[in-house]
Amino acid sequence: MEALKGVRILDMTHVQAGPTCSQLLAWMGADVIKFEPPQGDATRGQLRDVPGADSLYFTMLNCNKRSITVNMKSAEGKAVFVDLLRKCDIMMENFGPGVLDRLGFTWEKIHEINPKLVMGSIKGFGSSGPYAEFKAYENVAQAMGGAMSTTGVPDGPPFVTGAQIGDSGTGLHLAIGLLAALHQANRTGQGQYVEVAMMDGVMNLCRVKFRDHQRLTRGPLPEYSVPTYAGMHEVPRAGNDSGGGQLGNAIHCKPHGANDWIYVVVQEAVWTALAKRIGPDVEFPGLDTDPQFATIGERRKNQQLMWTLINKFAERYTKREFMAILNELDVPCGPIMSTQDLATDEHVRGRDMYVELDHPQRGKWYNVGMPIKLSASPAKIERSPLLGEHTDEVLTQVLGYDAAKVSTLKAAGAFAAPPKKG
Ligand SMILES: CC(C)(COP(=O)(O)OP(=O)(O)OC[C@H]1O[C@@H](n2cnc3c(N)ncnc32)[C@H](O)[C@@H]1OP(=O)(O)O)[C@@H](O)C(=O)NCCC(=O)NCCS
Repeated sequence: MEALKGVRILDMTHVQAGPTCSQLLAWMGADVIKFEPPQGDATRGQLRDVPGADSLYFTMLNCNKRSITVNMKSAEGKAVFVDLLRKCDIMMENFGPGVLDRLGFTWEKIHEINPKLVMGSIKGFGSSGPYAEFKAYENVAQAMGGAMSTTGVPDGPPFVTGAQIGDSGTGLHLAIGLLAALHQANRTGQGQYVEVAMMDGVMNLCRVKFRDHQRLTRGPLPEYSVPTYAGMHEVPRAGNDSGGGQLGNAIHCKPHGANDWIYVVVQEAVWTALAKRIGPDVEFPGLDTDPQFATIGERRKNQQLMWTLINKFAERYTKREFMAILNELDVPCGPIMSTQDLATDEHVRGRDMYVELDHPQRGKWYNVGMPIKLSASPAKIERSPLLGEHTDEVLTQVLGYDAAKVSTLKAAGAFAAPPKKG
């Protein structure tokens, strides 16, 4: 049985941050009702690759959900919303600041309608503090949560990371909060409001940078390959340094293309074996006993030379060949995998992490699979819903409306596009 079977979610989320969360909960078995404005989640039409079809942006974030369209700017639409609130365990949204309040639904009102309901909100900066009124997208959160200032090289611009830590990362945080609050609601009968700010989520993921921030008050950071000093105040961008207790870096391999790199961690335990293997090939016999590299402290001090030697050794190997050499020595390492590498990787396919799906508008397509594997409740991935595909089904099956009531609501515009703003 699915882990969240019987849990019903009213999912008003849009774009990426919220839908990431609700898709995961759907994959765990929750009945997720995607509650969309009549024109649909904006991402349905964004970055379209097939004319007239829901975009991959939408399909990849909204699997296993049902879609209902409701015009929240009509009295009838609001009544449908209230009925759904009464039938759901969780309601979630990631609108801009104040949107639900303007529609007449504060948390207090929602709590009054269904005291057991758990409500989840994602905001750029939360509901308090000087930034509370600002909207946010992925890179805004990366900029303001500490990720960008610590990514890149010291004399270059700050960089965003491709991993969507601001949007999808925040969605993960929300999923944890919702499940905790649901557990509590099941024991106490009382729901609560779960808020995750994207900026807070990014800061949480940058936790080790704040470790280093405080260490800088006492002295330089010896593991960084770039200069640091006591009283520096700001954690610098440190390229591909490991960021942990072990030294690590990206090493360029044959044939030296954009992704012909491998990340190597020179873990303390493996240094001697690694040095014995590479020393003779880079005209440095005795590397394993050389005092410049005898301890991790010495290797930190002399890491530029160490990386130069490892890079020199790697010149003759592809990333996969070098990986095989390192694997034999038990050196933690990983080739830099391009999207093409991953889409065709045996390990990835074997773990159902790149799954083929069908879609009535676009035919075959792929989604990244479910990364959380429950032994008794494996995820079964199903395509995303078409806009409003389940409106009638939800109205009759979940809300128990009869055909006459559905027709009356339709005639009153409960599911039609809201009037344009004047
Ligand atoms: C992502 C974001 C910037 C998009 O901004 P936006 O496109 O202006 O959308 P908003 O969420 O601010 O507003 C949605 C509008 O649609 C309306 N709407 C939403 N659902 C509706 C429905 N079912 N029926 C009628 N209208 C609806 C809202 O009432 C609101 O209208 P208003 O501006 O008249 O109040 C904003 O939603 C945001 O900051 N969200 C929080 C942070 C976040 O999640 N960002 C990451 C997204 S991946």
